[in-house]
Amino acid sequence: MRFLVTGGAGFIGSAFVRAVLRDFPTAEVVIFDALTYAGNLSTIADVLDSGRVKFVPGRIQDVASVEGTFRSFPPTHVVNFAAESHNDRSLLDAGSFIQTDVAGVYVLLEACRKFGVERFLQVSTDEVFGSILEGEFTESSPIEPNTPYAASKAGGELQVRAHVKAFKTPALVTHGGNSYGPFHFPEKLIPFFIVRLIDGKKVPLYGEGDQIREWIHVDDHAEGILHALMHGTPGESYNVGDVNERRNRDVVSILLEETGRDESFVKKIPDPRKGAHDARYSMNCDKLRALGWSPKREFIASLRETVRWYRENEAWWRPLIATADYQSFIKRFYGPSLGDDL
Ligand code: DAU
Repeated sequence: MRFLVTGGAGFIGSAFVRAVLRDFPTAEVVIFDALTYAGNLSTIADVLDSGRVKFVPGRIQDVASVEGTFRSFPPTHVVNFAAESHNDRSLLDAGSFIQTDVAGVYVLLEACRKFGVERFLQVSTDEVFGSILEGEFTESSPIEPNTPYAASKAGGELQVRAHVKAFKTPALVTHGGNSYGPFHFPEKLIPFFIVRLIDGKKVPLYGEGDQIREWIHVDDHAEGILHALMHGTPGESYNVGDVNERRNRDVVSILLEETGRDESFVKKIPDPRKGAHDARYSMNCDKLRALGWSPKREFIASLRETVRWYRENEAWWRPLIATADYQSFIKRFYGPSLGDDL
């Protein structure tokens, strides 16, 4: 088997590559990644050292780079993790989201059609379903995205659906829940708050922190995607989540405890997502569980372990938060409400 993992230098993609190397000792892997701000060679230093992984720099929306890679390394399995994925950035400017999450998926699907593959899997998100106040999303829940990011992911997965119908592309989609764990770029709730708390800075909680997210450890998520790829049916989609709903403020309490900070480090700010802030996510994952997958990591212990990982791996994240792009995003997005606490 030859895996082409686009976005493999990112958070979930790199965890997926580790799972492939562990479960398929003879598989070859190519990581194709644009190394934008959230993709990083230091995230995949260990897998590159394994000698079984080749790295190719490139953007999935670039037809020549994608086709060149399919030609020089004809993959049997293509898994697309490449994405712009931060809701808050999409509220400032969604142009790059449309380019990567919509146009990029189209380019990959066309390459699969032209060169032929055994399986293509598009990694999508539960956010395409919007918000659910009661009950759970199933794979056939209506697609009702509320942010420019979620809409771009919905656009990507609807193209997959069309390629399955129109060209019989052997493609699948997974919908992942909120993931946490090592190598998570420090802009999403958990890693952003951890690095700020380690540095003794206040953390910006949107509103009262009432929103509910269903958290899954990144390795459980990656293993779920691999399971869907190997055991799922082309044309189908699979939800990949844990039974682990938490209010934001309760997640933050664990982070405060583990970093030795108190409530005075939480600054409640006016909700910057306004009407686009989904109140709750919850997914029914029976379809993938019926194929033999289930998440294994316990949330509180794994979240504490994640905090310890950030403490022990400052060399990984300090350079990321020192970049001009990071500083300017934080100032632009949080500056008005964090004020002196920036
Ligand atoms: O559900 C899957 C999705 O989970 C993925 O598709 C997205 O790529 C991923 O970013 C995540 O989306 P969220 O918007 O839920 O994640 P985020 O960590 O940005 O925010 C989680 C919650 O925390 C949300 O209710 C907003 C809140 N929040 C977030 C940040 C960054 C804060 O209160 N303060 C913050 O500074």
